[in-house]
Amino acid sequence: MRFSAAALLFVAAVAAADEIAEARRRWAESPHGPMLERILPPGYEPSMLPEPRSRGAQLVRRYCVQCHHLPNPAMHHAEKWPPVVDRMVARMQGRGNMGKLMVEMMAGVQAPTEEEKQALVAYLRRHAQKPLDPKRYPEVFQPAGEPFRLACNQCHVLPDPQRYTAREWPKVVARMERHMEWMNRVVGTRPVPGEPQLRIEDINAFLARHARKPAP
Ligand code: HEC
Ligand code: HEC
Repeated sequence: MRFSAAALLFVAAVAAADEIAEARRRWAESPHGPMLERILPPGYEPSMLPEPRSRGAQLVRRYCVQCHHLPNPAMHHAEKWPPVVDRMVARMQGRGNMGKLMVEMMAGVQAPTEEEKQALVAYLRRHAQKPLDPKRYPEVFQPAGEPFRLACNQCHVLPDPQRYTAREWPKVVARMERHMEWMNRVVGTRPVPGEPQLRIEDINAFLARHARKPAP
């Protein structure tokens, strides 16, 4: 029997949707569901993965939605991914930290083989975040860089400002603001006495000063 590429992609998409439905069911039944639901924010969809038809993307869709929302490879820089994947795979094999919680969740959780794990790491590293080089942006350690520095390194390394143009950054920052609310981190819209004031306008202004110039 022969399948067209479109049919195969459809089968893969249905399989991914199955994994996600299965994970939703697991969270709904677990007393720890609300905690698991907040580990990573929603909104990053399987179709948004880079090289969506590659083996690496398939493996992420298969293994990395079993306990939380889909991770974006661009969330972390390359060096960070191997230890994160080690931690996750240990859990999938039932020997991670958070033992009891994970054991209760483990029914039906699948772990990748060693070879699949290497392919996952290679894929995540290939599409990883490019970190900010502090030598290039000394302002990050000055008062003008402080709101950006404090707000934007809570979940991952500081991103290279050259990733986006000054026009593009505010949309990304608005998304991060939603993530902060979702993941329960410090958000800077309402200043709380005694907490650092992380004003979104100051963060956008810092990024705009160092952003990539738009193509002429
Ligand atoms: C068996 C359940 C389980 C599976 C499957 C799983 N994770 Fe996780 N993941 C967790 C738990 C629990 C946490 C929160 C605690 C922590 O960060 O270790 C987490 C947190 C995360 C975080 C946020 C913390 C950080 O360091 O940024 C990322 C990113 C992540 N996982 C990526 C992945 C990737 C990539 C995969 C697939 C290779 C995966 N996870 C598969 C349970 C799992
Ligand atoms: C509460 C955790 C959290 C905080 C704080 C945070 N981020 Fe993120 N960031 C994420 C997550 C989760 C992703 C992956 C999902 C996504 O791309 O939306 C991500 C991905 C990114 C990416 C790569 C995604 C892309 O499409 O290019 C950039 C750039 C980024 N963040 C910039 C920032 C900036 C700038 C700040 C400070 C305003 C910030 N982040 C603060 C959680 C956070």
